[in-house]
Amino acid sequence: MAIRTVATTPYDDQKPGTSGLRKKTRIFAERPHYVENFVQAVLDVMGEVRGATFVLGGDGRHFADEALRRTLAVLAGNRVGRVIVGARGLFSTPAVSCVIRRRRARGGFLLTASHNPGGPDGDFGIKVNVANGGPAPESLTRRIHARSRELRRYHVADLPPDLDLARLGEVRLEATVVEVVDPVADYADMLEGLFDFAAIRRLFAGGFRMAFDALHGVTGPYARHILEERLGAPAGTVRRGDPRPDFGGLHPDPNLTWCRGLVQEVVAEGRLDFAAACDGDGDRNMILGRGIFVSPCDSLAVLADRADDAPGYRGRVRGVARSMPTSRALDRVAQAHRFAFFETPTGWKFFGDLLDAGLIQLCGEESFGTGSDHVREKDGLWAVLFWLQLLAASGESVAAILHRHWQRYGRDWFSRHDYERLDPEAAAGLLADLRGRLAALEGTVWHGARLVQAEDFAYRDPLSGEEVAHQGLRFRFDDDSRITLRLSGTGTEGATLRLYLERYGREGLMRDVGEVLAPVAARARALCEIERRFGRRGPDVVT
Ligand code: G1P
Ligand code: ZN
Repeated sequence: MAIRTVATTPYDDQKPGTSGLRKKTRIFAERPHYVENFVQAVLDVMGEVRGATFVLGGDGRHFADEALRRTLAVLAGNRVGRVIVGARGLFSTPAVSCVIRRRRARGGFLLTASHNPGGPDGDFGIKVNVANGGPAPESLTRRIHARSRELRRYHVADLPPDLDLARLGEVRLEATVVEVVDPVADYADMLEGLFDFAAIRRLFAGGFRMAFDALHGVTGPYARHILEERLGAPAGTVRRGDPRPDFGGLHPDPNLTWCRGLVQEVVAEGRLDFAAACDGDGDRNMILGRGIFVSPCDSLAVLADRADDAPGYRGRVRGVARSMPTSRALDRVAQAHRFAFFETPTGWKFFGDLLDAGLIQLCGEESFGTGSDHVREKDGLWAVLFWLQLLAASGESVAAILHRHWQRYGRDWFSRHDYERLDPEAAAGLLADLRGRLAALEGTVWHGARLVQAEDFAYRDPLSGEEVAHQGLRFRFDDDSRITLRLSGTGTEGATLRLYLERYGREGLMRDVGEVLAPVAARARALCEIERRFGRRGPDVVT
């Protein structure tokens, strides 16, 4: 075994997006040195990495095994001190964040494309996290991209062919200790420190019934251990709990479209008290109660409102944040509780500084992401446990909690319409066109409502002072509705246009979201000339 320096040619497309480098699996698998180049570019911009600790793992999707070995070889080739690897290469995204923090690691590599489908024809990705446990900030990803475009060599250590990543323990590889760990233990201990497990155990002992759908992603082993072993939920509570390279052919994204069966069972038929699901790498969550779907925007607002019910947050919440397209439900709670409040661009990385500085304790996004300062990623199982905590503490149902919330604060009906695989030029053209007409659009009337404010969202990080512009266009109407639009930064095929629709009201709180938002959706389609520009009559995905 030895360390070698390998000559390579740079790629110009290794630009990390909203959440790491994400491409078709084929690109990672077939392009020579593609993984090694990217990992080396990351290490090159991180400063001195000799002796540093890194955390490595992923959601077990197709190609992850090979990518893991190749990443490990480059880490050892750069003489890092220690690589903490999840057994069998598995690690959920929030667990990596937890372990980076607990073990004071310099960073982590997460081999996942999150909620995107896997398999040879699906997607693959590498997310890079830094020492605070969170995703690499914009300033670093820019440098990674620049470095990747000029990279001419990487360092690599030969791995022994019999290296067994299923067996716990330490192996030495040149200057590097490879430590294979149980990916669940630290993370489960951390959650047990935040919530009252005894109270939740009593809830299950009293006959409360839930289902957790892991969608064959990485959360299966976590949920089995935490829900079934530590909290005493009946065996079988966790469904599709074995991680599979192709997610069993599913789209591992927890929302109304991709979890239709569970929604039918719990919301439509009311056959369980509670249900939840997480995405491939475990950072997203969907919450369902008997007869009711909890929109992620409402979930965030309810958790913030009732944070005192959880021991880890009692008396401790002073600030909250949400991403720009997330509904204003959180704003109302922040105002009532006098929490500091921040509105950030889309993407978890923008919460990092605020969490580090203690300016916020809870934050979230409409895209089924909720989290807190316990780690620096959104955390799916954490949100599930927080809801179990609220249910245990209040003795109420999910529906009762939500109704009470709306009675107090009013309701923000929210929905997101995605138009996928659009011609990228046409999609960019739509944004450029509207951006050029923002001032002229103010005062115009669309399907009975007057557009009162049109803006191009820009953000200045209150701590670093870093500025980002053009994060999305936002239109406010005089019927208390809003339309936000932006292009996805995580898609791998064509462009995805996201239309975020919302409307606030205090009346008819039980009205269906589709019905309330129908006029807003029609307005958004007209404003964007969806049919003329893209030849589409309706969205591909509604969440
Ligand atoms: C999407 C979501 C965003 C989330 C990201 C990673 O990004 O919209 O909220 O942080 O996935 O999970 P997008 O594809 O919209 O850029
Ligand atoms: Zn994810």
